[in-house]
Amino acid sequence: MNPLDIRPLFPILDQTAYGKPLVYLDNAATTQKPLPVIEALSNYYLTINSNIHRGAHYLAAQATEQYEATRRKVQAFINARHSHEIVFTRGTTESINLVAFSFGQRFLNPGDEVVISAMEHHSNIVPWQLACQRHGAHLRTIPFSDDGVLDLDALRSLLNEHTRIVAVNHVSNTLGTVNPIAEIVKIAHSHNIPVLVDGAQSIAHMAVDVQALDCDFYCFSGHKMYGPMGVGIMYGREDLLEQMPPYQGGGEMIKDVTFERTTYNDLPFKFEAGTPSVGDVIGLDKAIDFMLQTGIENIARHEKQLTDYATQQLLSIDGIRIFGTAPHKTSVISFLVGNAHPYDTGTLLDKLGIAVRTGHHCTQPIMDRYGIPGTVRASFAAYNTTDEVDSFIAALNRIAPMLM
Ligand code: ALA
Repeated sequence: MNPLDIRPLFPILDQTAYGKPLVYLDNAATTQKPLPVIEALSNYYLTINSNIHRGAHYLAAQATEQYEATRRKVQAFINARHSHEIVFTRGTTESINLVAFSFGQRFLNPGDEVVISAMEHHSNIVPWQLACQRHGAHLRTIPFSDDGVLDLDALRSLLNEHTRIVAVNHVSNTLGTVNPIAEIVKIAHSHNIPVLVDGAQSIAHMAVDVQALDCDFYCFSGHKMYGPMGVGIMYGREDLLEQMPPYQGGGEMIKDVTFERTTYNDLPFKFEAGTPSVGDVIGLDKAIDFMLQTGIENIARHEKQLTDYATQQLLSIDGIRIFGTAPHKTSVISFLVGNAHPYDTGTLLDKLGIAVRTGHHCTQPIMDRYGIPGTVRASFAAYNTTDEVDSFIAALNRIAPMLM
């Protein structure tokens, strides 16, 4: 894949920052959006904006049709069995909060245990802490090695008759580790324990097949896969979703309401209270088209080349420490320049036009594990080029002596 072929779809990349060509390497935070996504958003508001499902008019019918067509497209994209297993949310965080609340209401009792990994983003820690607090359950964590590989033997020994769910990320937003989800699911399922996968950092970088992974929940965001902000997905297995109570109450999720009693709507509407972000969902449809047309395998291959090349170049600079060196990793490089504070490195890179992220990346336990305040994180997408990696390395070579 030649990234130059798709660059014209991303005019935002064609600008300068402080007089230097912008090099956008903050893709793990959010990807840029291709023109068809932006056009879909503006066409939605220009031509069919209306509330869905209940409107008895022409515009509502079109908006509903496109909204539901996107649900079917997402179903095919992740190979879910049924379109009603796809629930639209605001993003990964809301998807995980939905599962933690609703699964917790139904399945968590005092003395139960929830297992997460020690490399989770706060979005896959705090909702479980809250659920554990509500139900008197306990949170357990799977440790990882210095290079950022999960200890599956530790997982095996953590699981017991009290464990109710395992929640892990597919890819670590800080370390870049690709976790062996199919294996984790196999281990958990051998104890009849369901698995939630936080797919926020994987969905843009690899083909995801929820039936092949055999996971029970898979959560991700549109904005990290070239789609709009404001839309996320919660995939859940039908049999579990049927047993779980609603997350929020309101319009759409009901069948009948009286002051005495409410009966709930069928899946997926039981979990979609209130007016959804219709335009963003329709924009997501075009983001999936973009990924499929570019080719997910092509994207993965290209990003691996960029990550490997950038890693090799970084290691040629004196004093660079990389955090997360697992054999199987993707698209994310976290590092420090000597003992310089990551914020200082990020600020100097910014002045040279290089956009990276600095700080704890909402993974404070990872920072504690390494005894550091944070890292500088460069992360790649399909449109990044080798020339951009070269600019990033040249900028680092220029600023490293000032920082050490
Ligand atoms: N969770 C996002 C990140 O890793 C914001 O940058």
